Amino acid sequence: MLLAAALAALAHGQTTATPATSNSASGLRLTFTSLDASNAADVITAPNVWLYTPEGKPATPFLPGGKFNAVWEGVVTVEKQADYGFQTEQNGSLKLEINGQVVLDANTNGVADTPKSTQLNQGANTLKVSFTSPEHGDAFVRLRWQPKGGFFHPIPLDLLTHSGDAPDAARTAALHLGRELFLEYRCAKCHLDAVPGSPVPEIAMDAPSFEAIGSRRNYEWMSRWIQDPKALRPSAHMPKLLRGPKAAEDADAIAAFLASQKSGAATNEPPEPAKDQISSGKGLFETLHCAACHTPPDTDGSEPGKIQLKQVREKFVAGDVIPFLQKPDAHYVWIRMPNFKLSTDEATQLAAYLLAGAEKPKVAAEAAIDRGHKLVQTSGCLNCHALRLENKFAAKRWTDAPPEKWKQGCLAASEGDESSGKAPQFSFTAEERAALQAFVATDRAALTRHVLTEFAVRQTRLLNCRECHGKLENVPAFDILGGKLKPEWSAVFIAGGITNRLRPWLDARMPAFHNHAEDIAQGLAMLNGWPPHTPPEPPIDMEQAKVGQKLVSMAGGLSCVTCHAVGSVPSQIFETAGINFALTSSRLLKPYAQRWMRYPQLIDSSTKMPLYWDDDGKSPLTDIYDGDGARQIDAIWEYLRLGDKIPPPPTP
Ligand code: HEC
Ligand code: HEC
Ligand code: HEC
Ligand code: HEC
Ligand code: HEC
Repeated sequence: MLLAAALAALAHGQTTATPATSNSASGLRLTFTSLDASNAADVITAPNVWLYTPEGKPATPFLPGGKFNAVWEGVVTVEKQADYGFQTEQNGSLKLEINGQVVLDANTNGVADTPKSTQLNQGANTLKVSFTSPEHGDAFVRLRWQPKGGFFHPIPLDLLTHSGDAPDAARTAALHLGRELFLEYRCAKCHLDAVPGSPVPEIAMDAPSFEAIGSRRNYEWMSRWIQDPKALRPSAHMPKLLRGPKAAEDADAIAAFLASQKSGAATNEPPEPAKDQISSGKGLFETLHCAACHTPPDTDGSEPGKIQLKQVREKFVAGDVIPFLQKPDAHYVWIRMPNFKLSTDEATQLAAYLLAGAEKPKVAAEAAIDRGHKLVQTSGCLNCHALRLENKFAAKRWTDAPPEKWKQGCLAASEGDESSGKAPQFSFTAEERAALQAFVATDRAALTRHVLTEFAVRQTRLLNCRECHGKLENVPAFDILGGKLKPEWSAVFIAGGITNRLRPWLDARMPAFHNHAEDIAQGLAMLNGWPPHTPPEPPIDMEQAKVGQKLVSMAGGLSCVTCHAVGSVPSQIFETAGINFALTSSRLLKPYAQRWMRYPQLIDSSTKMPLYWDDDGKSPLTDIYDGDGARQIDAIWEYLRLGDKIPPPPTP
């Protein structure tokens, strides 16, 4: 098969051969072992043989900082028997085994190649990489392969699998889940002694503020919520705190008190929405892809993992919907609802759609307010919610409790019975409870380790990034982002700090996630084996840049500018447009940019960008560098590096 076709087949994921085991999971199993006296170990799933751990930092929350071993195990599946070369960039010592044979054994800070090519069999081939972190410097590994006659690039992710059932993997997965639940459910808000002085950002995770909450939330909805949050939202993180025969009455009193907490300014009721506003709002809901995380307000349906919006009309004081949509984190820093930077018109239309059919809200009885005031102070609400009011609730010192107590209180199997005392009720599933019990029985040092890769994987899952990336047309797949983008640029972009649209032809829009965008961007880069900070680059080679300028032009070049705008010079065709060349070098990592130019379909099989260089890397333009594709790509990159000072290419 021609290299081009073989690569394209890989990119399409057309692997006809069957994987090694029936219960295989994607990615590789990665086992870490600490090399200090603790012998701590952890097992996770890694997308590829990629790793980046800064010197002295822990590789996972369950390992102390310092030297460690890492072992990747799994299967690489290829369609046809063929020869491959392998190459690593690494700092540390590494051994690569294919089908039980050692093919690479290197101890270096740099690049290492297999001395000769390795034959892979049709179908499954076992892959094992053993790595030991270096004495000095950051530990890193990036594995690449090279089909015979091709060029080095990462093994496509869909070719890597591992068997899903290792006994220790189940145990460690439960500990990871337990840690996540501990953070997500804000256990430390009441059991602060469990984690003194932790750098993990979620330890400080807030809950919606109670300041002036009466101007934002309706009394009757709050009363129902306080009685049983999970009944209104299955994914609620707030526990049930009130119990006993007076629970409903107490909740009502608290809601009455909260409803009385109003800001001085009267809330503007939006005018009665016109029919066309409701339908424009519905249209926006679709183009902006709100359904990535929500079920629409005009349906009853509930989907696991999605927040339903039918309740908005009962929950929100009508005048608060527009300000909420424009600034969702105004009263709740850690809210997972992103900011779409909606114009006032857009927010008004969406609000009309969300509020359609709302009834006049009920008003609380004044008499209950005083009792509600006292209950808010004594029920534990103020451990999570902010309000300028003395908090009179405290849980017992937890770390003094003997281990048998760790299955009681908030973790009791039958909540609300004797053994749970006055503990809140979280309504965990049996699996969640077991995970939390297993986790709290450890030394909980994992709560004091903030590991960026782990943080990024977890947060991007909880933030539903993949509901758009990989599902919306022309929006880049999620898995490539960390190996593609400079983390400095990504961080600003994810936080919403880049105002020019990259792809103005798209209807969809990337919403801003303000919270810890930098940690997410750095974590994604490290997950792909890249450092959290892009190393300084050498000065631009102006000779090469000049050649690059000619190469992209329509005057004796490859006419890249038919699709790509250059600064203020627009492209010729908008529909299949590429990104403005002035933006590229601040965004892309050089190896990605070069790989993309060399073979775009290898990264995105559906891209409209043509393939320019043939199997041997030869260019159709033989008068520049004798048609040497690699040198031409280098020259284009030097040209792209001129960034916002990029001169337009010559015209014929
Ligand atoms: C609103 C405050 C609050 C939150 C949040 C909270 N707890 Fe508790 N927890 C309590 C109270 C109150 C008790 C009962 C012990 C007591 O009377 O102080 C308790 C008891 C416990 C106990 C039994 C220990 C003992 O000494 O009896 C465990 C274990 C526990 N909680 C775990 C958790 C976990 C895990 C989380 C997070 C999922 C959590 N708690 C969140 C307030 C809280
Ligand atoms: C990436 C996921 C995501 C996307 C996309 C998203 N939201 Fe949200 N949204 C959330 C989450 C999570 C919450 C719940 C926040 C909380 O209360 O903890 C939320 C809450 C809301 C709420 C308040 C609901 C309530 O019960 O408090 C409204 C209204 C809302 N979103 C509207 C929208 C609209 C309109 C869009 C599209 C423009 C949209 N959302 C897109 C994640 C998302
Ligand atoms: C362990 C932390 C925690 C405790 C304790 C807690 N809450 Fe909450 N509360 C939350 C979180 C988190 C949310 C956001 C929705 C969610 O994810 O459950 C929330 C949401 C709310 C809301 C909706 C606010 C809005 O603006 O949308 C109200 C009202 C509320 N809580 C009232 C109370 C009251 C009253 C108490 C005490 C009886 C209480 N909460 C105790 C964590 C807590
Ligand atoms: C509602 C859909 C949606 C969600 C949810 C979403 N994105 Fe995006 N994202 C987009 C769109 C659309 C673009 C393209 C924007 C453009 O080019 O103007 C984009 C672009 C990006 C880019 C730039 C990629 C490139 O190659 O230019 C990054 C980085 C990114 N998103 C990260 C994330 C992360 C991290 C999350 C989750 C925290 C996330 N996105 C969630 C829609 C979404
Ligand atoms: C037929 C249209 C077309 C032509 C011609 C074209 N490209 Fe592209 N190019 C694209 C598309 C589409 C993308 C992907 C844009 C995206 O990520 O949404 C792209 C992306 C790129 C990127 C990544 C840009 C970034 O910032 O993410 C580079 C670099 C690039 N092209 C270089 C070239 C070069 C060099 C040539 C000429 C040798 C060329 N392109 C010719 C359509 C084209």
